[in-house]
Amino acid sequence: MLLFNKLIVGVVQLMPKSVVGFFSRKYIAGDTIEKAVLCVKDLNSRGIYATMDVLGESITHKEEAIEAKNKCLEVLNTIVKHKLMANLSVKPTQMGLSIDEEFAYQQVRELIEKAKSVNNFVRIDMEDSPYTDKTINLFKKLRNDFNNVGIVLQAYLKRTTSDVITLNILHTNYRLCKGIYIEPATIAYKDRQEIRNNYLKSLELMLKNGNYVGIATHDEYLINEAYKMIKEKKIPKDKFEFQMLLGVREELREKINRDGYKIRVYVPFGKDWYPYSIRRLKENPQVAGYIFRNIFSFER
Ligand code: FDA
Repeated sequence: MLLFNKLIVGVVQLMPKSVVGFFSRKYIAGDTIEKAVLCVKDLNSRGIYATMDVLGESITHKEEAIEAKNKCLEVLNTIVKHKLMANLSVKPTQMGLSIDEEFAYQQVRELIEKAKSVNNFVRIDMEDSPYTDKTINLFKKLRNDFNNVGIVLQAYLKRTTSDVITLNILHTNYRLCKGIYIEPATIAYKDRQEIRNNYLKSLELMLKNGNYVGIATHDEYLINEAYKMIKEKKIPKDKFEFQMLLGVREELREKINRDGYKIRVYVPFGKDWYPYSIRRLKENPQVAGYIFRNIFSFER
């Protein structure tokens, strides 16, 4: 299977843009904010919440980071205008974290201030390990002044449970995911069950402390275990939600919705869909496998 996935990645990179677009369209709301609004409205009409993400390429200049922030401000205004059940997700490097930490802080702060003024929320995504500490520091600084900001932690990182213990002190609003980047075995679990175990251990630490958790996974095993944990520990419904990526495991998403749990879908959109798709495919060959299988099974 690994070889199959690697082969697919090789093939995908050689494919014309239109073909990659065809492969990715299930996972991306479109290239414009108007298309993203239609996608979110459709989800909302079925009782599903969204978190909107403006796709962006790696930022090398402050001007690009400012442009990206302005697009995020537009998203927050659009949410208000269309009365969408949605919040905003933002990547710290897109806001300039790799250029200048103080600059990135001011950028994200502006987004959170805007979100606060319209009663909304900003989730800071977690990127690869060179940015873990910087992202946590950014979050901590913002959390001092705001309660409408949350962070993402990745269960594949061995450090995560200790990060939870530190962040619990701040009554953090979390999203917990497995993690999508390729990380060295010195810092990250590689075994599927070890990652799941760390996920559940982290989830328990988060929930037990009364924190709000976005349980972000499509792994049925983890979802079932989360169901059990929530019931056993009598976690109130306003202390968690489930989260999934657009276009992934939609039948499971509907089941969670039918079971009466809040569910939120990550809705990426924007003109940078192409490099984003290619990077995702390269970063996680498994995704390429999923896409290929979807194409052959005509599951759309
Ligand atoms: P796993 O990968 O084991 O998937 C379980 C099952 O879901 C698979 O067997 C397959 O059926 C299906 N599936 C999963 N991904 C699929 C895909 N792309 N296409 C089709 N089927 C698929 N990561 C990160 O590092 N930083 C972040 O900030 C975020 N943010 C984030 C937000 C939200 C809302 C989600 C759901 C996920 C993220 N992630 C993330 C990604 C996350 O870390 C992880 O890579 C993916 O969710 C896949 O892991 P699962 O837990 O779904 O398990």
